[in-house]
Parts: sequence; structure tokens; C-alpha cells
Amino acid sequence: MKQLQFQNGDKIPTIGLGTWKSKPGEAKDAILTAVKNGYRHIDCAAIYGNEKEIGEAFNELFSNNIVKREALFITSKLWNDKHKEADVIPALKQTLADLQLDFLDLYLIHWPVAMKKDANPPEFLSLDEVPLLETWNQLIKAKTEGLCKHIGTSNFSIKKLNHLNTESSQKVEMNQVELHPFFAQHDLKEWCDGEGILMTAYSPLCSADRSEDFKKADEPQLFENETLKELASNHNCTIAQVVLAWNQYRGICAIPKSTNPGRQVENLSSDQVILTEADVNKINTLHINYRIIDGSFWTENPFYTKANLWDID
Ligand code: A2P
Repeated sequence: MKQLQFQNGDKIPTIGLGTWKSKPGEAKDAILTAVKNGYRHIDCAAIYGNEKEIGEAFNELFSNNIVKREALFITSKLWNDKHKEADVIPALKQTLADLQLDFLDLYLIHWPVAMKKDANPPEFLSLDEVPLLETWNQLIKAKTEGLCKHIGTSNFSIKKLNHLNTESSQKVEMNQVELHPFFAQHDLKEWCDGEGILMTAYSPLCSADRSEDFKKADEPQLFENETLKELASNHNCTIAQVVLAWNQYRGICAIPKSTNPGRQVENLSSDQVILTEADVNKINTLHINYRIIDGSFWTENPFYTKANLWDID
């Protein structure tokens, strides 16, 4: 199993199991089969609404001695409505209780977007009112207290990462972002390499199972792409394996979601696919700057726009 390394030498398996969109009633079995089939990296988040069910799976795996806690790398993420200083550590403790764990391997700020605590419907707060640095300093505290081993962000731009890195006592260790052949994140990867920040690709297979409300008619189709089909045929493997092997070639973790045991195994064994530099260059030509998660659901309020969310012009 390929792994990436944090600055302190700790390792993270490059392929993890994504749990976003794993439905209630499916998430527990997905974890049980994945771990039994060799997965050692599981990606979770409070907002996915399935951490209690995933916690039951962890408990079953540990109490039946199928795997030791230390052998798993478990990530979770802080939701937007728990960004205030007083709310961060309680939210992390709730996640630990739900997942039935004593510590996380990695805790991330899910979005650079703040909301009022427990408000339903959500009420947005500006980043002037709840600065990202306030939230980040609580993640640093959580790490110091041993609640999590590593800390990082998700959906953060270079500008926001740089702000945290220059204004706090602890650099960001991981940034999890949308990343697939149509949105390759070359600039962010280069910058993160320079800062020693690891990266994880979410929606590495373009998340076809996400809500129809957020799909556009002109979306590029990963599994119908001719270049990827040709590479899969050349390597006698599947398109999913080619795409996940491309991530690994670039030194990026990927967290494909699957609740299907066969596809879980297929995705994990992508590390057997050895791409050449020419293959990788071919895949790199597919980048068309196409975000499938464009953040438009955060922008119907006075504080957030696509421009200030992603720090683009
Ligand atoms: P399923 O859970 O039924 O396997 P992403 O990780 O980009 O969010 O994509 C998840 C979607 O891709 C889900 O619909 C998942 O379906 C599907 N998927 C996961 N692995 C594969 C694979 N190897 N081949 C085809 N589809 C896959």
C-alpha cells in the first residue's frame, strides 16, 4: 500500500475510503467490507450524517480484533457552524463520541465558511466575525491536547493557506480539495509542495452520485472520456484505476467513495497500475478548470461570493 508522509514521519495511505454520500444503512457495511479488504484510511465528516453508524463499524472491527485502532488512519471535519472558539473542541469531541474513538488521525476545517451555531435554516456569518485564524488556533489546541494527531483544511485556496501558515504557530498539514482530471489543481499542488502541505483529492471520480440539483447539463463525463478509455485499455485496467493511479503518481491521496465491495477493491488496487510519464502528461491535458463542487450553495448571502470563496478574480 502506497503512503505519503507528514513532516513528523507519520504516514497516510494514499487511497482512503470516502464516506460522503454513503447513505444511512450503507455506511457501516461499507466500512466493514473496506477494512476487511485492506483499506486503512477512512475519510469522514460530521456533516455527512453517518458518523454514528461508522462508529459502530469501528467498534465492531476493534472489538473483534479485525484491525487495531493504530493501524487505521481516520479523518473527520469540522462543520461550518462550529467555527467559533468555544465550539471547535466540543464539536471534535462529539465526532470522537460518534465515531467511538479516543483520537483522530486528522481533523480538517471543512470549508472556509462560517455559520451560526445550530441555526436551521443555516445563517451565514462573515469571516470578519469568525476569522479562520480563530478556528485554526483551536485545531492547534486540539492537536496539543492529543484529540487529533494532524490538522488541516479542506477547500482552502493558496491565499487562505498562506494566511494560516504565516499567522499561526503550526502550519497546515493537509489540504483536501476537489481534484480529478478535469480539475487537476496543478498550481495548488506546486504551492503546497513548497510549504510541505500534503493534499487529498475529493470527488476523485467526479461524484456521479451527488444530488441532481448540483449537476449541470454540460458536465464532462469521466467514465466516457476517450483518453482515459485508451489508457485503461493499454494498462488492462479500469478508468477509475487509471485516475486513482494518476493521483498516486503525483503524490496525492484520493478518497473514492464506494459502498460496493467489488469497486472498493478495484479502487484500492489502483496502486498496482504503473503509469508512465507520457501517460500522466496525457491525463494532464484533460484539465479544463471544471469544478463540479463550485461552492454556489454558499453564495446566496452578503458575505460569500465565488470570487472570495476560491480567491479568484
Ligand atoms: P458506488 O458507491 O455504487 O460504487 P467520488 O468518489 O468521486 O465521489 O465518486 C463516487 C461515485 O463513483 C459513486 O457513485 C460510486 O458508486 C462510484 N464509483 C466508485 N468507485 C467506482 C469505480 N471503480 N467504477 C465506477 N464507479 C465507481
